Amino acid sequence: MVLVTGGAGFIGSHTCVQLLEKGYGVVVVDSLVNSHGESLERVMRIAGKKLCFVEADVRDRAVLRDIFAKYEIDSVIHFAGLKAVGESVAKPLEYYSCNIDSTLVLLEEMNAAGVKNFVFSSSATVYSAGNEMPLKENSSTGNCTNPYGWTKFMQEQMLKSLCTADSEMSVVLLRYFNPVGAHQSGLIGEDPQGVPNNLLPYVSQVAVGRLKCLTVHGDDYDTPDGTGVRDYIHVVDLARAHICALDYVSSHKGCEIFNVGTGHGSSVLDVVHSFEKVSGRKIPYKIGPRRAGDLATVYSDVSKAKSVLGFETEYDLEKMCADAWHWQTLNPAGYVG
Ligand code: NAD
Ligand code: WQD
Repeated sequence: MVLVTGGAGFIGSHTCVQLLEKGYGVVVVDSLVNSHGESLERVMRIAGKKLCFVEADVRDRAVLRDIFAKYEIDSVIHFAGLKAVGESVAKPLEYYSCNIDSTLVLLEEMNAAGVKNFVFSSSATVYSAGNEMPLKENSSTGNCTNPYGWTKFMQEQMLKSLCTADSEMSVVLLRYFNPVGAHQSGLIGEDPQGVPNNLLPYVSQVAVGRLKCLTVHGDDYDTPDGTGVRDYIHVVDLARAHICALDYVSSHKGCEIFNVGTGHGSSVLDVVHSFEKVSGRKIPYKIGPRRAGDLATVYSDVSKAKSVLGFETEYDLEKMCADAWHWQTLNPAGYVG
């Protein structure tokens, strides 16, 4: 069985669907601090199979101990954590506690239970500014610009150290680029609390009329149309990368890092135009100043994931926007609507 922490969240829920579809037994532990139990009901509806859900904080050692005692867990996929960059600047201790402590307690309890296979949600945010594009797994990391980024950097370091000490450990660090989109059923998707910080959910909410106008954060970058370029990846493709990573950890030892993106950059205006095309709605936008900490262009070199994991993305930007729009129209107020 696979223990999935944070399985009720955006990426976790899409991964749980594929795990169930592939025949894995799944135990989810999630505190629902940034999600709704409804997402897991819908995961089970899509897959036509059941998973076990434990509502708890990953920092709760006794709960983890019970889970490892009760279920035959072979591998852990660790999504749980807080992820809002701006909030992490305002509440650094909450972020260090949630992200670092949860990983520490989880690894200690895995060790006590003899569980050695681990897949971790890392982020392109660990790369330093100033790298050449595309980013490779050995591009330089660190000098993070916010506490959230530092928590990912530190968790990666903890996992590398553990693999050095314990030759039985098998860890994959997946560095996600910009996950977007939704399941094609429209039943599960991204459900941010409050006003979204990220581009795609903001654009969807403008399209559906929840927000009035997008502010484009700068149009004077050195990019083809002057707006920021990112490597957007469909969440269903990203979920599949976890299935490849699980196969990998069950047959290898040590720590391996993989970028998970498409290898292609799209600008803010590319996203706006794709979304307008698939939704048939006009997305009003205005140009604002640059957002502090943003880079002009970020995209991945995906050759390692392709050659080692056999992982390649299938879906393009239009499909990402179409599925995000389908989810948004079926669930205009998210899971609670
Ligand atoms: P999400 O907030 O939708 O999912 C995270 C889940 O973890 C939520 O269901 C939340 O309730 C749960 N959670 C948080 N802290 C917990 C704790 N201490 N104990 C138990 N449950 C807890 O976020 P997501 O977009 O699905 O991201 C999943 C992971 O991927 C995170 O670690 C995030 O940092 C990482 N990541 C996300 C992105 C992105 O843009 N979405 C990019 C790179 C990396
Ligand atoms: C994309 C582009 C913005 C909103 C963030 C985190 C990163 C990772 C993914 C977790 C940029 C522009 C955005 C808006 C805009 N998360 N934009 N108007 O900044 O690449 O990455 O999410 O690990 O750590 O930093 O994604 O979606 O916020 O921005 O013009 O209202 O859209 O300036 O060029 P980003 P994003």
